[in-house]
Amino acid sequence: MKPLIVANWKMNPSTLKEAETLFNSVKKGIKDSKKVKVVICPPFVYLPLLSSIISHRPSVKFGSQDCFWENPPTGGGAFTGEVSSLMLKNLGVEYVIIGHSERRKYLNETDETVNKKLKAALKQKLKPVLCIGETEKERKAGRTFNVLKYQLRRDLKSIFNLKSKTLNLTVAYEPVWAIGTGKACGISEAKEVNLFIRKIIGSFSRIIYGGSVNSQNARSFILEAKFQGLLPGSASLNPKEFIGIIKNVS
Ligand code: PGA
Repeated sequence: MKPLIVANWKMNPSTLKEAETLFNSVKKGIKDSKKVKVVICPPFVYLPLLSSIISHRPSVKFGSQDCFWENPPTGGGAFTGEVSSLMLKNLGVEYVIIGHSERRKYLNETDETVNKKLKAALKQKLKPVLCIGETEKERKAGRTFNVLKYQLRRDLKSIFNLKSKTLNLTVAYEPVWAIGTGKACGISEAKEVNLFIRKIIGSFSRIIYGGSVNSQNARSFILEAKFQGLLPGSASLNPKEFIGIIKNVS
C-alpha cells in the first residue's frame, strides 16, 4: 500500500498568491511521485483555484479540513457559513479531514457532530480522514487507550459496525500533545497505538500518524511504527520539508 501523505495547511497562508506559490513549489518538488499518494488540504477559499491548477496532474489530490453534516437540496441550505460534502464533491475534492483536535478544542466539535460529518462525507463518497488523539493530561493519567477507544466507538457509531471493505476511511492518530509542539510521539509508543487502533477498526481502513511530523522522523513512522501514511501540519507549509517527507517515505 502506498503511504498517504495528507498536508494540513490549517488556516494558512494569508493570501491566494502565497497559496498558489506554496502549491506550485510542492507540485514541482514531488513531480510524478508514484510511490506516495499526496493530498493537499488548503483552507476552503483556496480549493477552487488550486484544484484548477492540478487538473492535468492527478498524482496530487485535494482535501478539505472540515465539512458540514447536512447535504440539503438546492434552496434548503440554511446553514450560514457552512460547506457541505456535496459542494466539495462537486468541486472535485476527494478527501476531508474530520474531527481535528483544534476543531474539537476551539469549535466545540463533539464526537456526535464528528459522527454526523463522517456519515455525510461517506454518503457523498468522499474519503474522510478521522482525527483522534489523547491530550497530555490523559496520557499522563495512563488513559490513552481508553480515550482512543471511546472516541472511535462514538465517532464511528453505526459506521464502525459496517466494517465494510469499501469503506474509504482513514483514521489519523494525532496525539494532541504532539501537535505543533515539535515533540513527535516516540516510535515504539506510536506503534503500540497503531496496533491498538487496528484491533478496534478491523483491517479495511488506513491508519496514519500526525503530530510534529518532519522530514527526519517521517520514515520511521512508516517503516518502523508501520503507519500507512502521515498528516503533517507545519511541515506541509515548508516546501523543502514537505518534499523531504515525500522523498524519505518513497
Ligand atoms: P503539526 O500538525 O505537524 O504542525 O504538529 C499536525 C496536525 O495538526 O494535523
